[in-house]
Amino acid sequence: MVNFDTSLLNSGSYINGCWLDDNADTFTVLNPANNKEIATLANASADDAKRAVDASQEALLSWRHVPAKERARLLRRWFDLVMENKEKLAAILTAEQGKPLAEALGEVVYGANYIEWFAEEAKRVYGDTIPGPSADKRIVVIKQGVGLVSAITPWNFPSSMITRKAAPAMAAGCTFIVKAAAETPLSAIALAELAHRAGIPKGVFNVVVSNRAKEIGYVLTGDPRIAKFSFTGSTPVGKILLEQCAHTVKKTTMELGGNAPFIVFADADLDAAVKGVMLSKFRNAGQTCVCSNRILVQKDIYEEFSKRLVSAVEALEVGEGTKEGIDIGPLIHSGAVSNVESLVEQAVSNGAKVLTGGKRNDLGENFYEPTVLSNVDAQMSVAVNEIFGPVAPLIEFETEQEAIDLANNTEFGLASYIYTRDIGRVWRVSESLEYGMVGINEGIISNEMAPFGGVKQSGMGREGSKYGLEDYLEIKYLCMGGLDS
Ligand code: SIN
Repeated sequence: MVNFDTSLLNSGSYINGCWLDDNADTFTVLNPANNKEIATLANASADDAKRAVDASQEALLSWRHVPAKERARLLRRWFDLVMENKEKLAAILTAEQGKPLAEALGEVVYGANYIEWFAEEAKRVYGDTIPGPSADKRIVVIKQGVGLVSAITPWNFPSSMITRKAAPAMAAGCTFIVKAAAETPLSAIALAELAHRAGIPKGVFNVVVSNRAKEIGYVLTGDPRIAKFSFTGSTPVGKILLEQCAHTVKKTTMELGGNAPFIVFADADLDAAVKGVMLSKFRNAGQTCVCSNRILVQKDIYEEFSKRLVSAVEALEVGEGTKEGIDIGPLIHSGAVSNVESLVEQAVSNGAKVLTGGKRNDLGENFYEPTVLSNVDAQMSVAVNEIFGPVAPLIEFETEQEAIDLANNTEFGLASYIYTRDIGRVWRVSESLEYGMVGINEGIISNEMAPFGGVKQSGMGREGSKYGLEDYLEIKYLCMGGLDS
């Protein structure tokens, strides 16, 4: 039995404007709050993915010539339909992903904002003119969509990670195929249904749902007709996909793992800093790549900050995302819980102290208690690896330089956060942090107007903002000669 409206759902993949339902092979989708089955879907094969590439390539021939204003109109219509159906979409998202309903609604709107933003930006793809090197020459620069784009998206943001890639691609005149995460394919199907209703032409937006990640991945990273590949997921998987893309020299956007430092200086507004940690650490039960992963706290305020943080964490309500007043839902599956459990156990055996939480929650197999650890040192696995769970490790530091060194001592470089009221320190530390994003006295940094992305092994490329559109555009230079009279 499902407790959400299924009118936006369908039997499987959406390819070339049609639903895949003739597949004897199926896979099931579970609700992480209780491990009960909520859907059985046709399991797409590599051949189905190839059909999506054929359809997308065919659609590209006309889509790239559709005037930007018309592409913008269609995207705007899609946005309107997503917003009209946001409650239904949120219920689907909570059922398959587990996050509390209010947070799921927030994600649906967050994702819709990318469609709205890029619908507007579609009309603003400007070129350039450059003074020529001689009197008879002119140089003109035009920008064109890269072509066919493929993508693989994660289970932690089943709706917004699709729109964040699809909307700029389609705005730029590209066609698009996404393989949605096998754990959370329903939000992708619902988005496809609404794209269909919005009148987006067949083959322009395709969704492949399947649990055959490797097979589909080979097609989406290997087919020479695909010009660009965009991925959000872990760094180890990103490296494999990047290697596969190298054979056909695809443009790539890689939004990979993080190990975000959250630095609280002694001069910070402590209540604001606690609020910032709560937002950045416990969003989606700690399952985001921008979640603060290491809370670095200056010595003078360490005790007081820990006390205030523990009291805020103890006020969090854990439970099924569909229930009123829940702050923390289940993790995606029991493997994710085991991973968090083992990081905490290793930390404790190496001298960390559990200030609150530190164990599974008896609500069910996939629930873990919001946890604060003190006495953590930078070498512990919990500080070196992406936790992807509701655990806040506290690390003490003394000087500004020590905080910067600790923060940068990782192969990751996605999000970072600093809390201080000293404007000089804001600039010094922000400029020294080897990260793509810095939240300054702010725990929530993601929005469609800003360039989201990382450096080092957190990936390459940016999503959102004008820079996010650039990632789907090629520059073409036209050299006009023979112009002298
Ligand atoms: C992610 O965790 O992959 C994305 C988080 C965000 O968009 O804020």
